[in-house]
Amino acid sequence: MAEPATHSQTAVSELRCIGCGRSALPDRFRCETCRDLLEIVYPRWEETGPGGLSPRALQQKWLERRASLESPDQSGVWRFREILPEIATQQIITLREGNTPVYELPRCAKSAGLADLFAKHQGMNPTGSFKDTGMTVAASFARQAGYRWVACASTGNTSASMAAYAARGGLHSLVLIPDGKISWSKLSQSLDYGALTCQLKTDFDGCVRVLNEIVERMPVYLLNSVNPYRVEGQKTVAFELLEQFSWEPPDHIIVPGGNLANSSAIGKALREMKQLGFISFLPKISVIQAEGANPLVRTVRETGGEKLVPVQAETMATAIRIGNPASWKKALRVIRESGGAVEQVSEVEIALAKAEIGVEGIGCEPASAVTLAGLKKLSQRGFVKRSEKVVLILTGHPLKDPDFTLKFHRGDLFMGMQSESAVEVLKPQQRPPVVLEPSADAVIRLLAKFEN
Ligand code: F0G
Repeated sequence: MAEPATHSQTAVSELRCIGCGRSALPDRFRCETCRDLLEIVYPRWEETGPGGLSPRALQQKWLERRASLESPDQSGVWRFREILPEIATQQIITLREGNTPVYELPRCAKSAGLADLFAKHQGMNPTGSFKDTGMTVAASFARQAGYRWVACASTGNTSASMAAYAARGGLHSLVLIPDGKISWSKLSQSLDYGALTCQLKTDFDGCVRVLNEIVERMPVYLLNSVNPYRVEGQKTVAFELLEQFSWEPPDHIIVPGGNLANSSAIGKALREMKQLGFISFLPKISVIQAEGANPLVRTVRETGGEKLVPVQAETMATAIRIGNPASWKKALRVIRESGGAVEQVSEVEIALAKAEIGVEGIGCEPASAVTLAGLKKLSQRGFVKRSEKVVLILTGHPLKDPDFTLKFHRGDLFMGMQSESAVEVLKPQQRPPVVLEPSADAVIRLLAKFEN
């Protein structure tokens, strides 16, 4: 490779507490003094800019790397390495993540009352979710720091991603997932990639509690989203989105909220871009939760954002079935400084939005569909205007949860759970498979029915 993947003289990063501002050692997750979360800062940027380059020079360099044949350049994360922590090139574990498409969603725009609507599809990453962008950075750091084991508690996507990156990097991985509460498709990924997979008889929040104790007692590196290196990798989605929009920020970015790291990462990226002079204003960042897993919504509505209100989470969008989100303070800061909103959506609203994204020929997993469901509400209450340029962050691939999709189309999703009238709205979107005799006549008769 013509140039090193790291810039020891420039991209020097530090870990700092988001609460008291104290520095921390590079492999810590919480402040030793006040126990708040840590974030990565780049003290030299103020003097020299990332990599000693101007925004314009960086934009050019990042674009040029797309034509390179070197593996870190082909990654949609590492091609932005000037804004990431230092990792030695030979330690980088990459599956060529990132470089995900932005799609127009004309039918969804209409249904939300907007002129245009875009989706940045992070489900198009190597393991099918946005987690890969953060995992490449944090797993590489774990390898560089000499860890043999990495571990996470997960609702399924983090574990799939961690298992894949650990395997590629020659690390062992330990997965803790809630028994029976994640999609089979995600569980199968972690088995396939060779993780030691434990199904605990608890929920995600219970898995986190167990894992926190394990990392205290064993030399295992934690790869949950409190890991500040994951947040840095997840920042790159915003840099890439802006590049795809010729560095003209959209008005509004809408993100699903679970443990609340992704909204924090996107907000950090945009804050940094503004500080560095890439953009002149911050787009609004809004976070949408499922009604049954709504701790952030309740925190804002009931305490004005002062104190987290944990909930016993329940939603069919299992990826965001989280009641005690670790990164709530970081997410709230992003929502406040960008002027965004928090909103919650019902299970029926999620199912309908998912089907609408499906018929755009794109699809996503249920947790991602909360973005469209939430946008419709924000638009109805006038918070989003018709002319605004809005981007939905679709976090997971439709094949992540095929059970949900099949049940939806067969009409089984809400069986025995909702009143008939509540699910009536879904009927026009349901397309159950039709079982027929194996004859052309039978199929043609059906076709004719649909033509009329
Ligand atoms: N969308 C999907 C598809 C997810 O898998 C997650 C989180 C989120 C949204 C929420 O993102 O936590 O950063 O607010 N999944 C985690 C996991 C918790 O274990 O896979 P967040």
